[in-house]
Amino acid sequence: MKITVIGTGYVGLVSGICFAELGNEVICVDKIGAKIEQLQRGEVPIYEPGLQSLLTVNMEAGNLSFTTDMTASVKQSDIIIIAVGTPSMPNGQANLSYIETAAQEIGQAMNGYKIIVTKSTVPVGTNEKIREIIAQHTHETFDIASVPEFLREGTAVSDTMNPDRIIIGTDSKRAEEQLIKLHKPLTENMIITDIRSAEMIKYASNAFLATKISFINEIANICERVGADVTKVAYGMGYDKRIGSSFLKAGIGYGGSCFPKDTQALIQIAGQMDYDFKLLKSVVEVNRGQRFNIIHKLVSLMGDLTGRTVGIWGLAFKPETDDVRDSPAHEIITELLARGAKVKAYDPVASDNFRRNYDMGGIIYCSNAREAVWQADALCILTEWNEFQEVSLSDIESWLKSPYLIDGRNMYDEKQLAQTKLVYYSIGRPGMN
Ligand code: UGA
Repeated sequence: MKITVIGTGYVGLVSGICFAELGNEVICVDKIGAKIEQLQRGEVPIYEPGLQSLLTVNMEAGNLSFTTDMTASVKQSDIIIIAVGTPSMPNGQANLSYIETAAQEIGQAMNGYKIIVTKSTVPVGTNEKIREIIAQHTHETFDIASVPEFLREGTAVSDTMNPDRIIIGTDSKRAEEQLIKLHKPLTENMIITDIRSAEMIKYASNAFLATKISFINEIANICERVGADVTKVAYGMGYDKRIGSSFLKAGIGYGGSCFPKDTQALIQIAGQMDYDFKLLKSVVEVNRGQRFNIIHKLVSLMGDLTGRTVGIWGLAFKPETDDVRDSPAHEIITELLARGAKVKAYDPVASDNFRRNYDMGGIIYCSNAREAVWQADALCILTEWNEFQEVSLSDIESWLKSPYLIDGRNMYDEKQLAQTKLVYYSIGRPGMN
């Protein structure tokens, strides 16, 4: 099939490349000229395992191209996928201006029947707005569909190529048939539903996963007070099929470009309908508080942080990505600096992005894990990169000036700790130091 993907962010780029890999002819469009030039040179602008090689292969095979010319691209395509950003506005509502502009430009470029698919996360009712906007600019026939994306950063390619399910929300039989054909090589698990329900499935899924994380983080906080171990509790809970074992890792809370934005947006969507989504508001509040547990623990161990050097391992919001959007590291480091601490930070891939995204003086960016720990008063682990797991605790102990290790991601076990004199604090596992 001939496909245009509008927007070369995470969702657009990964979807475009994967659809090309399935043998479709894909044109990816973006307004940012520099990004398109980089892609035309065959370079992936984000760190995402496996994506670069797929891009190279499919560009060479002639299945995949990049352009800023949306009109020409839309005219050549049967399916148009909208994958532009829907960033948060200050009140938490999703900003739909990129979506609306894309719809208008699609409408102006229409030259025959096309299916317009929205993959961006959009509030309920947005696809119908898209239909209205397109219809204002063309007399050609077209159908719309909501096909939300469920890929995770860091495992985006395998999530896209092996999805748990594909949701197709449409009111057109013709679009339904075409979209089933397009997604058939990926999975048999296709759920055909109405447009509004498809839009809601995406928000509800992300909100539910965020709820699981905040829930287990609160259980962790109680475990610390009653002397239970949250990793054992989560393991025991996860064996119940109704609960499931995933997304029950306690830590310093969720970050990234999706959960924080989508939980806020769903609270707003409910609020606009005069519904107070109390549970989700608490999820958000718990998540924010969880980030500061690290600081409270440091202060309880070391007292005043003024002039103390704190090493930080991990700036990305999770491993295997260079994405630092809403990374817990940002708020934690901001608080450390406000309390007069000196911060030495290391991340295997995200340091440049962190420096660029957050204009924070006072951070010393280190080029390896050892440098960030060397002669520091404490080490805080904020992202669970495998590379950190490979460093022995006795090395960490010998590099630190004071023996404080604050592990925000529960990376070490009792056996490893038994061989050191580190004062160790993790999340929801009392008695491990
Ligand atoms: C999330 C969803 O998992 C995807 O299904 C969805 O498509 C995506 O948002 C999106 O809406 O685009 P992502 O944000 O890439 O994906 O990453 P996750 O793996 O879900 O992690 C999110 C955050 O939760 C991370 O900060 C991670 O450290 C944290 N987390 C995750 C926990 O603290 N505990 C867990 O058990 C799992």
